[in-house]
Amino acid sequence: MEKLRIGIIGADFTLRSQMVLFNFPFERAELVALCDRDQSMLDKFKTEHPEHSPKFYNSAYDLFADKNVEAVFIMVRDQYHEELACAALEAGKAVYLEKPMALSIEGCDHILETAYRTKGKLFLGHNMRYMDSILKMKEVIDSGIIGNIQSVWVRHFVNYGSCYFRHWCAKQETCNGLLLQKGSHDIDIIHWLAGSYTKRVVGMGRLSVYNRTRNRLEKGEKPDRKISFAPDTWPPLELEKLAPEIDVEDHNMILMQLANGVQASYEHCMFAPDSERNYTFIGDHGRVENIGDRGNCEIHVWTNRGDRNAPDIIYKLREKAGGHGGSDVEILKAFFDYVQFGKKPAVSPVAARYAVATGCQGHHSMRNGNIPMDIPELSQEIIEYFS
Ligand SMILES: NC(=O)c1ccc[n+]([C@@H]2O[C@H](COP(=O)([O-])OP(=O)(O)OC[C@H]3O[C@@H](n4cnc5c(N)ncnc54)[C@H](O)[C@@H]3O)[C@@H](O)[C@H]2O)c1
Repeated sequence: MEKLRIGIIGADFTLRSQMVLFNFPFERAELVALCDRDQSMLDKFKTEHPEHSPKFYNSAYDLFADKNVEAVFIMVRDQYHEELACAALEAGKAVYLEKPMALSIEGCDHILETAYRTKGKLFLGHNMRYMDSILKMKEVIDSGIIGNIQSVWVRHFVNYGSCYFRHWCAKQETCNGLLLQKGSHDIDIIHWLAGSYTKRVVGMGRLSVYNRTRNRLEKGEKPDRKISFAPDTWPPLELEKLAPEIDVEDHNMILMQLANGVQASYEHCMFAPDSERNYTFIGDHGRVENIGDRGNCEIHVWTNRGDRNAPDIIYKLREKAGGHGGSDVEILKAFFDYVQFGKKPAVSPVAARYAVATGCQGHHSMRNGNIPMDIPELSQEIIEYFS
């Protein structure tokens, strides 16, 4: 098999790009180009990774012009996704684009239209579609054992949530809101497992904790993102060195009505003391719920009327190596299978667009008197191209 010649945009390998580097499939790929606008990241890479010898670029556009590059990983902050994904597709590269797809519905549609017109390969980094707990719940639902899904409730407690309030995610201008940055994962899973996309959404959200913290970063001062993951990062109101300006909500709630009639709710809180994504899907013949979302977790299934603590079936899942419960390894493999063999992936650019659209309209609702917002439909032509 010929090795796929790849380029990476975003060379801070303590951040998201580590997903590619730490799981690098040397037998099927060669890293031929690396880009970061911060030269110190490229210098660091040169000394720390002699096993790779890519060409270095400070501009993504120069990397896209490199004819030797066949596929690119766009691993930079969300505000550049639309611009860079479109430019890469125009240059004929296969694209791995991190979630959320873009900051607006128009931005997502621009990317989809560009991929459609250029007949390009576009793959979205929704790694939760490769997480064991999600796949087991999907298997349960698809088996029909809990009947047809009618109701979905998802709660996400985030004890490292202060990290989003230290950097570019703290501002609507560069992040829109956390329903995109965090919520697009879960909204995508709700859509996937419930078998339909949101048609109408209502939102409520508030910024009520991190705006009250003191001793903020100075403008231009580099944040230490990792502190938020330390166990002693507590209590939320006493945290220091958060972004100088914060205007995104730190707890959000949305209600969704899906096109197939399913009703769903999603909530997240960025100042919780513990962390877990907790999903339940309720059908007209039972219910499934995850107890723990990765590692050694369980999937509980009720198919008879009974006790909360006595499910009819318990699936015990084992810890898997690799980032995000092993899903980073799987999604990387799926990208290479898609580009090199044309194998259809579990992720979908159309679904990624509907997740962003729901998040955008949810934020619009909560920022405008909680009005119900409809989700604009995508053209049938585009939907068919990607299916
Ligand atoms: N799928 C997941 O589980 C997951 C987890 C974390 C982050 N993410 C996503 O990963 C992406 C990257 O997040 P981040 O916080 O690491 O981004 P970031 O932009 O803060 O940093 C990544 C690197 O990219 C560089 N960079 C930024 N903009 C650039 C540009 N226009 N051109 C060249 N280099 C540029 C920075 O200098 C930095 O070294 C985001 O889209 C985020 O949503 C996904």
